[in-house]
Amino acid sequence: MTNKTKIWLSSPHMGGNEQKYIQEAFNNNWIAPLGPNVTGLEEDLKNYLNTTKEIAALSSGTAAIHLSLILLGVKTGDEVLCQSLTFSASANPIIYQGATPIFIDSENETWNMCPNALEEAIIDRINQGKKPKAIIAVHLYGMPFNVDAITSVAIKYDIPLIEDSAEALGSTYNGKKCGTFGTFGILSFNGNKIITTSGGGALVCSDKHVKDKAVFFATQSRDNAPHYQHSEIGYNYRMSNVCAGIGRGQMEVIDLRVAQRRKMQAFYKELFDSYSEISILNEPSKEYFSNHWLTAILMKSEKQREDLRLALEKENIESRPIWKPMHLQPVFEKYPYYGKKNAETIFQNGLCLPSGSNLNEEDKERIKKAIILQLNN
Ligand SMILES: Cc1ncc(COP(=O)(O)O)c(C=O)c1O
Repeated sequence: MTNKTKIWLSSPHMGGNEQKYIQEAFNNNWIAPLGPNVTGLEEDLKNYLNTTKEIAALSSGTAAIHLSLILLGVKTGDEVLCQSLTFSASANPIIYQGATPIFIDSENETWNMCPNALEEAIIDRINQGKKPKAIIAVHLYGMPFNVDAITSVAIKYDIPLIEDSAEALGSTYNGKKCGTFGTFGILSFNGNKIITTSGGGALVCSDKHVKDKAVFFATQSRDNAPHYQHSEIGYNYRMSNVCAGIGRGQMEVIDLRVAQRRKMQAFYKELFDSYSEISILNEPSKEYFSNHWLTAILMKSEKQREDLRLALEKENIESRPIWKPMHLQPVFEKYPYYGKKNAETIFQNGLCLPSGSNLNEEDKERIKKAIILQLNN
């Protein structure tokens, strides 16, 4: 093991003004899950997403997915369709609601939900007597899913779409920002994301009425009464005004962060150009614009992938296999799955590479050297 400093997959990158917003929160004693930073961040996001929709800042992206299921009326015994190749947080809230996840394979172009497998699943579930209540599709690693194809299936069968845009703030499809296509969109500001609030998320709601209901559930479902009265079960899911201060500072540099992440992907693209057996996750056509939150590659075998991961680890460089598909996870393997083995192959042969916007030329040189040494070996 080397004594070189660790190069992380994706670490927080402050813009400079975060502490100014936090200081304001302290100066005005807004140390609470509400306040000017919370409303300010919601405004910043609305402007950035260029949408008439309304945004609720929450404690996490997971909370946003959970609330969207609650708002869609998903209950015990219902079925929810969910992309299999994703982080477990996309699927966990289905279980919180006592519903059944139905997992869907990926397409090879975007690595995201395959529209054909989705339709096959819907037809089969309806034939079995149960129409799914919602679809959770994910813009994995920032790459937009095939929005036209997925939304047209959702519309055809009249099933609401939850757009898991946790990894895709800044990505667009046909020039429109990811997070604004679904019945609900969700964002994450976890520490590893393109911008962070240390931990946090947001729910993109169709209008103010829906946002008000989301905030109602997120603040313990308090009825309108002088005492504390509750007619519905509530949650403690609102974002802290201190954390939102970090988010406000981060929103000042979001365009720069997208450019920096994309530059990292371009760096790897050039590097792997001469290795024909390695392919890099790339926009399949001009409709797609990825923030390239993480650069991901596909190698020719699981062994080749693991050899590269270990070679990087030896140099204190973090890399990570692709998310293990949910239908292969011990906790989810008993649930139905539709599709082929695309997600499985991407998992086996795929690797995420250090993609932080704060990696410098020296870091890049180290990464490049370690990769070339391993591949030419
Ligand atoms: C695809 C995806 N969905 C959901 C989440 C959940 O977001 P959070 O960590 O903010 O709860 C994450 C990230 O953590 C994610 O990567």
